[in-house]
Amino acid sequence: MPILRIYYRVIALLAPEKALAIMLAIANLSLAGVSFLEPWLFGHVVDALAGKSHKDAWNFIGWWAVVGFAGVAASVWVSLYADRLAHRRRLAAIAQFFEHSIGLPLSFHGQHHTGRLLRIMHIGSSNLFSLWLGFFRDHLTTVLSILVMVPIALHMNWKLALLMIILMVSFAVSNAIAMRRTHKAQGEVEQLHHQISERVGDVFGNVMVVQSFSRISAEVAEIKQMVRRVLTAQYPVLRGWAWLSVANRAASTLTIVAIFALGTQLNGNGEVSVGTIVSFVGFATMLIGRMEQFAGFISTLFFQTHSLSDFFAVLDTPAVLQQEPGAADLPQQVRGEVVFDDVSFKYEVSHPALKHLSFRVPAGGTAAIVGPTGAGKTTALSLLYRAYDPSAGRITIDGIDIRSVSLQSLREHIAVVFQDPGLFYRSIADNLRIGKPDATDEELQAAAEAADAHNFIIVKPDGYATLVAERGRSLSGGERQRLSIARAMLKDAPILILDEATSALDNATEARIQRALNRLTKNRTTFVIAHRLSTVRNADIILVLKDGELVEQGRYDELIAMGGLFAELDGQGKFVADAEDSEDADLSGESGETKEREPAES
Ligand SMILES: Nc1ncnc2c1ncn2[C@@H]1O[C@H](COP(=O)(O)OP(=O)(O)OP(=O)(O)O)[C@@H](O)[C@H]1O
Ligand SMILES: [Mg+2]
Repeated sequence: MPILRIYYRVIALLAPEKALAIMLAIANLSLAGVSFLEPWLFGHVVDALAGKSHKDAWNFIGWWAVVGFAGVAASVWVSLYADRLAHRRRLAAIAQFFEHSIGLPLSFHGQHHTGRLLRIMHIGSSNLFSLWLGFFRDHLTTVLSILVMVPIALHMNWKLALLMIILMVSFAVSNAIAMRRTHKAQGEVEQLHHQISERVGDVFGNVMVVQSFSRISAEVAEIKQMVRRVLTAQYPVLRGWAWLSVANRAASTLTIVAIFALGTQLNGNGEVSVGTIVSFVGFATMLIGRMEQFAGFISTLFFQTHSLSDFFAVLDTPAVLQQEPGAADLPQQVRGEVVFDDVSFKYEVSHPALKHLSFRVPAGGTAAIVGPTGAGKTTALSLLYRAYDPSAGRITIDGIDIRSVSLQSLREHIAVVFQDPGLFYRSIADNLRIGKPDATDEELQAAAEAADAHNFIIVKPDGYATLVAERGRSLSGGERQRLSIARAMLKDAPILILDEATSALDNATEARIQRALNRLTKNRTTFVIAHRLSTVRNADIILVLKDGELVEQGRYDELIAMGGLFAELDGQGKFVADAEDSEDADLSGESGETKEREPAES
């Protein structure tokens, strides 16, 4: 994105408070005007006094006082409101960035590490902040002063003024050259910074692995190596801009000397008086100061463009999974008949994950999905709540294409127990309330009891208020799964997806939960990826996936009779007998009940 376009977009973000922003800009310009008026009034007072016209002098002094106080009032107002406005818009930009990016498709998040996104958000918004403040305080006045001062200089003496114009052109050309030469390199620097943030974020997120594999020194060495790469890329850019500022300075000095030299010559010819030379030099110094200020602004903007364009690139990423304009909601009373009609899907980076899937699950029925690991079971179900859209084919609920209804209403009707239960860095209660924000404490407890989670929660230091560590790290695998089940139970949606929901539980715990799950799945369309014989045996339809293809479908007896892949899996004992809820297990309490187990069908 070209630098001016970025600047334009930065200023355009002030649009929601346009009136205030314009008033601030005008107030600032008037302040710049005051700084011109004061010397002018001063001159007139002196002239009036010299001409013994005391009345005029008082007049001008009166005006001077008015102008002076107006200036003070304006500057107080500007400094109060400009800062507040910039802070407000900065936080609004953060909120806007957050809102937009969490709605972006999972494919976007697959390509953008959270470390990178966080950096883009923070650096981008601070750059916005500093540019807005600069806009109110300096940029406009600087540009306007230059625009006003050049004609005045030309009016004073065009030959001397020409030297100033040459200086301006040289500033512009050298800035343009520096920018062109270093733009790409600065982009690489920015990318390297992103990589450091990704790496650091990733290591923090996996600190247990890092420590247990004694990777601390290796990870530190890697970061240091990356830091060295940043510096290697950054130095040439800094060198370029250092040379530029030296060149600018030298050109300014040369210009002043040249003005004196030309002035001397013109004075020799009798074209200008000494007074003119002196006042012109005074004026030129002011103008050069402004030009240097402008060059400084361009260089700041240059160093911020990449992070700003990354910020805007995220905001510009379209939510591909857009709902159709004015999409209606799914009817409140969903029966829950689900049909996959020739559905194919491919993750951007891999071979086709699903090929021509067609099946129908009757309303209120249970579909068991089985198949080897990596067959596409999780992927197939993620299409149902539109984590992704199929590349071909369509999915309907009660005959309605899920792409034609609002995302919000679709997802309200589906509760998922994920294979990898994502938990938030919030209290246990807040984690459960993800399923139902307005759940009462009693509802929370009832769901936790059904998912056999209540007992382990109440022995935690703060009970339901206990903070869960990032990614649920402070809980055992089985505890995480039980919170995830309770959360889905609370949601009470007509369609339920259970993806290896009980794979990390021991027999006794699983048996206890199974009863609650059986109650839950009654009259609810349920998709279950499971390893229990009873689950597959009782399912209304078993879908057998292999390499993304639906190789068999039918009821248990039919598939066994067919003697295909399912019969083979069954014959290999891939489906385990029902868990038993023994007295012993009940007495054994929490310890040891959450041993991790490989999903049986993998
Ligand atoms: N986010 C992703 N991006 C790219 N490829 C993916 C992604 N998620 C899964 N895959 C790939 O898609 C294929 C199907 O994965 P999926 O998770 O659906 O398998 P699964 O049948 O649920 O396996 P498991 O029994 O191990 O859970 C695999 O080859 C996997 O590597
Ligand atoms: Mg899976």
